[in-house]
Amino acid sequence: MTGEVVAEAKGLRKVYDIKRGMFKAPAHLQAVGEVSFKLERGRTLAVVGESGCGKSTLARMVTLIEKPTAGQLSIVGMDAVNPPTERKREMRQAVQLVFQNPYGSLNPRKKISAVLEDPLAINTSLGKTERAAKAREMLSRVGLRPEHANRYPHMFSGGQRQRIAIARALMLSPRLLVADEPVSALDVSIQAQVLNLLADLQNELGLAYLFISHDLGVVRHIAHDLMVMYLGHVVEQGAKSRIFARPLHPYTQALLASTPGLATSQRIVLQGELPSPLNPPTGCVFNTRCSHATERCRAERPVLRALDERMVSCHHAEKFLNGAAPGGAHNPQLAPA
Ligand SMILES: Nc1ncnc2c1ncn2[C@@H]1O[C@H](COP(=O)(O)OP(=O)(O)OP(=O)(O)O)[C@@H](O)[C@H]1O
Ligand SMILES: [Mg+2]
Repeated sequence: MTGEVVAEAKGLRKVYDIKRGMFKAPAHLQAVGEVSFKLERGRTLAVVGESGCGKSTLARMVTLIEKPTAGQLSIVGMDAVNPPTERKREMRQAVQLVFQNPYGSLNPRKKISAVLEDPLAINTSLGKTERAAKAREMLSRVGLRPEHANRYPHMFSGGQRQRIAIARALMLSPRLLVADEPVSALDVSIQAQVLNLLADLQNELGLAYLFISHDLGVVRHIAHDLMVMYLGHVVEQGAKSRIFARPLHPYTQALLASTPGLATSQRIVLQGELPSPLNPPTGCVFNTRCSHATERCRAERPVLRALDERMVSCHHAEKFLNGAAPGGAHNPQLAPA
């Protein structure tokens, strides 16, 4: 069953105040600006973009670790910005986070049984035998053996540890899993296995995923919807199939073209420096690295608008409407600023 909204964000923003010394006013760094999305049961929204574009900041807001500076966020129908006190626990259980680093995220002194059972001990009234049974069942579910419960994290490979981290995240039956670069630290061959596991679990359990990656190749099979971010701004957002078939933002085009293994891609390396988020370009944030940029792009920030069944923020997006798929004749040549 799909259609049920698990998470919804409207105009979500995060601004950090950066201290600059005693006598100076703090600088403002907008890590995430104006992000909106709706995530339904059984669906995956992939968030992609280069380092520093705000992916993890978004993940921390959605997992209730950090409060947004502005905007609305609801998780399983509850206000997540100012949650009703009596339902905070319920909401925290509904959304769980899986980190990138399967080595750092598991306590080396805890047996796997404790790793998996602790969330149950803290949040449920289940007895010891029931907790142990649940932990063993979850280990099989993620493709490990029940007797692995007696081992310590260092006795597992990176891929197995990531399975354990996924198992731990699932112990409290969440509705939404936020996965922040969950396979980036793994070998390519292992990546596919973990991605398949996530896809199976989604089918079985109806989980919604907010899947964060800097790599379009990784999200290619797992994503239903895509959100492409650049310097804290959403530049293109919509159905993955739509965007992969015909990206309308020059940044998305560059990302796609630089993703190995995408049949139509020709290699275009993104050139030029990523601007500092403390001093973002005026107008379109991408203008300093875009060969299509005009005076208008340097002066006026494009809004995210509907075009060709997705949202895009580029003054010149129409130009790419009749273009071929990435790698075709209409592919932009990204040049240094
Ligand atoms: N607690 C913080 N205080 C100040 N600035 C921060 C803080 N957290 C993040 N930032 C800044 O916000 C911006 C977005 O950071 P974020 O970690 O969300 O990016 P990211 O897309 O996850 O990058 P990566 O791919 O490297 O993980 C960066 O410029 C970062 O330096
Ligand atoms: Mg990050």
